[in-house]
Amino acid sequence: MATETNESLLKGKSIYSIYEGLEGANNVVALRGLNIEMKKGEFVAIVGTSGAGKSTLLRILGGLQRPSAGTIRFYGQDISRMSEKLLVPIRRSTIGFIFQEGNLLPELSGYDNVVRTLRYSGMGFDEARERAKSILIRLGMESRMHDLPHRLSGGELQRVAIARAISNGPALILADEPTGNLDAGNTEQVMQLFRELHEEMDIALLIVTHSQHVASFADRSVELSDGMIIGQHGAGSDIYALEQSRSVIISDSGNLTLPPELLGVMNSFGYHWDFSFNLNGADPRIIGRPSLQAHTNCPVCNEPLNGDKFYCHSCGAKLN
Ligand SMILES: Nc1ncnc2c1ncn2[C@@H]1O[C@H](COP(=O)(O)OP(=O)(O)O)[C@@H](O)[C@H]1O
Ligand SMILES: [Mg+2]
Repeated sequence: MATETNESLLKGKSIYSIYEGLEGANNVVALRGLNIEMKKGEFVAIVGTSGAGKSTLLRILGGLQRPSAGTIRFYGQDISRMSEKLLVPIRRSTIGFIFQEGNLLPELSGYDNVVRTLRYSGMGFDEARERAKSILIRLGMESRMHDLPHRLSGGELQRVAIARAISNGPALILADEPTGNLDAGNTEQVMQLFRELHEEMDIALLIVTHSQHVASFADRSVELSDGMIIGQHGAGSDIYALEQSRSVIISDSGNLTLPPELLGVMNSFGYHWDFSFNLNGADPRIIGRPSLQAHTNCPVCNEPLNGDKFYCHSCGAKLN
């Protein structure tokens, strides 16, 4: 079993990322002062739509890109201002990366791709060969590991990419849309594999995805929208049980921001939400409960609906 501890592995504080616009174009603010922390051995998903800032955040947390402002502490050490010379060996020995395309060297077999990574991290040739072989066998690639990447399926390519990322026993794996090119069946298998590896080895996993389903394999997911964290929840959370699985973000100006798919549910016609505030003790909570009472009157004009759920015949309001 992965031993999840309370010890901090990675901690990003007030991270901003600004891309300068080309010749007169506006700058793009990709990340707007967000805070994120991962404990050792945790499995976290970052979810959000395209353009939310997920890839930017992943590259910054992995030390592949510098934030415009803010700090990233890895094992307590600030890596955001560290020189490349110091950073490269840390990345190589403790962080594994997986990208959507797999990024294997096309002229080398899957096996040789893994061996090469191990050799780069300073391992001797014989040991690297042994290790590559046993990992590829563990990942179900025994019969395909000597094929060149162009002969492998999307799912097989990702297995090799995973083998390469875990080969030198990293503390952390960062994966950007690792199932982005896979069909539903392969997505299921690859995510299952991530879960198994997470449970067998003491590896923390951070997976970026636009899919709620992929995110559900993680222990916790963090929702990113427009460069800000707008919510987080545990795996398989029941969206109605807000008090158990959700946290909401309170902005600097004191507004509550609720995750978009929760708003989608709350807007559903017929649900009425009550919020109460439990401020006792060290763990203050905001508790939301849907009351399943259907509206009998139109929420817009208050005329009786006469049982029609989707349309008010009095004022013409569409209800959903
Ligand atoms: N190299 C870049 N130069 C300029 N803008 C960029 C660059 N990379 C990303 N962006 C912009 O930053 C925002 C966040 O992008 P990204 O981190 O790739 O989001 P995601 O991975 O969630 O789709 C987007 O508006 C994107 O257009
Ligand atoms: Mg992306």
